[in-house]
Amino acid sequence: MAPKPVGRFRTLPDYPLATIPQKKRELAARGVDVIDLGAGDSDLAPPVGVVDALASAAATPALNRYGFGLGLVAFREAICAWMLKRFGLRFDPLTEIVPLIGSKEGIAHLALAYLDPSRLAIIPEPGYNAYQGGTLLASGEPYRYALRPRTNFLVDLDEIPDEVLRRTGILYLNYPNNPTAAIAPRDYLERVVARCRELDILLVYDNAYSELAYDGYVPPSIFEIAGARDIAIEFHSLSKSYNMTGWRCGWAVASPEIAGVLTRVKTFVDTGQFMAVQAAGVAAIESYDTFMPGNLAAFKARRDAGTAAFRAAGFSCETPRATMYLWIPLPGEIPSALFAERLLEEEGVVVMPGSAFGAGGEGFFRISFVTSPERIAEAARRAGRVLSSMGAEVA
Ligand SMILES: Cc1ncc(COP(=O)(O)O)c(C=O)c1O
Repeated sequence: MAPKPVGRFRTLPDYPLATIPQKKRELAARGVDVIDLGAGDSDLAPPVGVVDALASAAATPALNRYGFGLGLVAFREAICAWMLKRFGLRFDPLTEIVPLIGSKEGIAHLALAYLDPSRLAIIPEPGYNAYQGGTLLASGEPYRYALRPRTNFLVDLDEIPDEVLRRTGILYLNYPNNPTAAIAPRDYLERVVARCRELDILLVYDNAYSELAYDGYVPPSIFEIAGARDIAIEFHSLSKSYNMTGWRCGWAVASPEIAGVLTRVKTFVDTGQFMAVQAAGVAAIESYDTFMPGNLAAFKARRDAGTAAFRAAGFSCETPRATMYLWIPLPGEIPSALFAERLLEEEGVVVMPGSAFGAGGEGFFRISFVTSPERIAEAARRAGRVLSSMGAEVA
């Protein structure tokens, strides 16, 4: 009999994507043509220079040593130059940037410093799983707020009881949003920053999708909002902007005080990202002007094909102005998990049921723009067939 983990561990829910690789293998073995629109993990290539930058950095002995918290100073400097160019914001490379082993790592570890059993974290649901993972592992108390069309998928702090807000240590916000593809208006962000300042709440602003935006929309940094530097930390990632999910490279940006807290936690749990990966990160960031337009055009073609095809197949979906997702409502009372299961079993298409993101996600499913427009359109036709047969059964 193995030793038992503590109760905190048992509060972790099942990871939604955990069983999909196995199911996909079974279907492929049966000869099914599987289309996977599940994880937000694009099939597109990273910028050309990053592989060369990795190779030459990896061949440099000094960059094979521990990076420690400081890491490659050139990576910090490239981040700051980009933040200035992109958002018009100045940060100090040495004290206000925290290099991360993927932004998920930093998001999850940060909770260890700001939560304990006396404090709550406001967790948007549906939402990225590291918010609740960090909260639960830090023994913080989750307060789940359902993101629904009623509030345009925004967390309305006025709806949260005062006694909850008074005990809140962290508010997690992510706009452009995974999975709903919602974006946050500037006046909303101003209200949130003002409330967090009044209540002394750490605003964890997850900006992983800041560069995947369309039709002229330019997502802001939270630090464009006056006063945000007092209470916010913002997370960025190379994963989605540069098709580098597997590289595990991102960063946090915050005032020296808040950045220093995360740095201190990380000092005790990791010894820094491989500096050759950070060198590749410099190459990625420096390719921004040449790489981003073509990459965005590819995502936009997928978005347009997906939106048109899912509408033609009988679904109603908004055209998202950002992210790599469609968040598609299911008509009637069709349970999202059952729909996703039937779509996978009968048609070989992987989508994420809304319920996999928690009860707040029920009634929707998510597709990711991770394959070609033609394959996304084919997946929509297959989804339409399942919808018709389930709709007929529900009716
Ligand atoms: C909202 C959001 N934040 C953070 C991440 C994590 O990205 P990274 O690969 O940098 O850990 C993801 C990845 O899916 C995400 O959707």
